[in-house]
Parts: sequence; structure tokens; C-alpha cells
Amino acid sequence: MLSSQLKIQGKKILKPMHSLQTIDYTDADAPKLFTASLRETGFGVLKNHPLQQQQVQHIYDAWQRFFDSDKKNEFLYCPEKFDGFFPTTEAESAKGHSTRDLKEYYHYYPWGRCPGALRQTIDDYYAQTISLATELLRWVQENTPESVTANFSEPLSTMIEGCSHSLLRILHYPPITRPDETKALRAQAHEDINLLTILPAANEPGLQVLTRKEDWLDVPCEFGNLIINTGDMLQEASGGYFPSTTHRVVNPEGNRRTRSRISLPLFLHPRAEVVLSERYTAGEYLTERLRELQQTDQTAETDARASADVS
Ligand SMILES: [Fe+2]
Repeated sequence: MLSSQLKIQGKKILKPMHSLQTIDYTDADAPKLFTASLRETGFGVLKNHPLQQQQVQHIYDAWQRFFDSDKKNEFLYCPEKFDGFFPTTEAESAKGHSTRDLKEYYHYYPWGRCPGALRQTIDDYYAQTISLATELLRWVQENTPESVTANFSEPLSTMIEGCSHSLLRILHYPPITRPDETKALRAQAHEDINLLTILPAANEPGLQVLTRKEDWLDVPCEFGNLIINTGDMLQEASGGYFPSTTHRVVNPEGNRRTRSRISLPLFLHPRAEVVLSERYTAGEYLTERLRELQQTDQTAETDARASADVS
């Protein structure tokens, strides 16, 4: 077990229990506070950051229209490159879960396909977020003990330089209309595979992180905040110093069930050849985790067929 976290039934949880504090990006101590938050909780929440709220709102609105239209089916994902639109029937299942998440999504890479009218805005956002992520990785590097950074094969901020597969996923959680959907969640409990995830607060609540008491703690979702969490690759590279904490997106209650939720995570990846640890390069780590996810998806498909057969 990694020293910085407890494990209960295979889930990675916070140790010790902390509430998530929002950190002001413009505060002189922000680099230190942000790194401490990642260390203690696996999450960091920033306000007054450089990503424009208006731009995020514009993206939410434009992609909501895209998901509401049939146009999305013209951009069905490419099975080799994994760019494009993934319908609800193809949505992933979290590792260890046999039910597909209640979501559809679009994988955007600057080299990949994108509806023409949506490209410029999303491309600008992608570039700005990578630039901010580079700064945040510098913060982390500079505020991590040397005993940990000595094991990094190169500075964290250069690990992502020239990487073409950091993924911007535009997620749409549709309104929940069918009673049988209560068995599934918008996103089952999982950990992110990558180095860091950069996420503007979504337009509806639901994101939760698991605490040591196995309670789910709401992540502050004030619109305009930026939520950053550690992924498994940073946990691996830091020998467990930075925990990759289990999180999920719960289904809304009452009237909120009729509302869509849009979310815009950028999954930051190192170049494939970057050495994460004695055990893995980033490429090897990703391949192993994707293989596990593929097996989970096959189980979900089998279970879905089985339940269809008996209904
Ligand atoms: Fe996640």
C-alpha cells in the first residue's frame, strides 16, 4: 500500500479527512497552498485563475447544442485514434464496475476531428489550459521536498512538453429520465490515470471525493472555480507522495434530474517515453490501464446483454 493513503475495498481515500479549501491563484502563497492541498487531499481548487469564465460558459453552451443535435453522430469516434464522439451506449465503465456511466462525450485533440464551428474556441481553451497546467506543475515541482523530486526523471513541467495526447473531454451527462438508470451513476467511483486533471467547475453540482471515513465529500463547484486533481501517474512518479484520490459524479435529485450537466476535464499526460518510476514509462502505464478499462467495458457489455436477454 502506498504510504500516503488508506485503501478500503480497493478504493483510494483521503488521509486524513480534510475539507477542500479554495485557493486564490493571485495569492503569493498560492503555489505552496496548492501543492499542500494536492498532497493532503489529491485535489486543489483555485479561484481568480487566468481561464476566462465567459469562455468556459461559451463552450458549455455551444457543446450543449452539439450534444442536443444529430450532428454528433457524424463525428462518431475513431476506434484507432479515440478522437470524436462517444455515445451513451459506448460510455466507459469505471474500473471494477460493470455498469456503464450515464454520459456521452467528445474527445478533442488539436490534431483530431472537430466540428468546424466549434474548433477555434476549443482549440484556444486547450492551449490556454496546457499553459496554465505547465505553470501549476512548476508550482508543484518547486514546493515538493527534494527527497521526492530527486526521483523524478525530469521536471514535472517538461514531462508534458511536446505531448500530443493530453485529452480534452467534453462531457455531457443527459437528464435522467428512466427509473432503471438509478442503478448507474453519472460517473462511478474511479481514479484518473493521467498526471493532473484540470476541470472548470461544471454547470451543475455532483462531483464528490471519498474521505477516510468512507464519506463522500462535495467538491466546491462554484462556477468560475478551477478544480485540479492528481492522477495515478503523478502518484506513481512521486512514490505515493501525491495521492490519486477516488472521486465520482452522483446523480441529481428532484427537479435537477431533468437538467443536463456539461463538464470539461483536460487530462494532462506526459510524453509516452517519460520514465515515471522503475516500473513504468508513461506509455507503458497508460497501455496497462487502458487494457484494464477495456476488460471492464467488455464485462459491462456482457452484463447489459444478459439483462436484455432476461427482460
Ligand atoms: Fe475523474
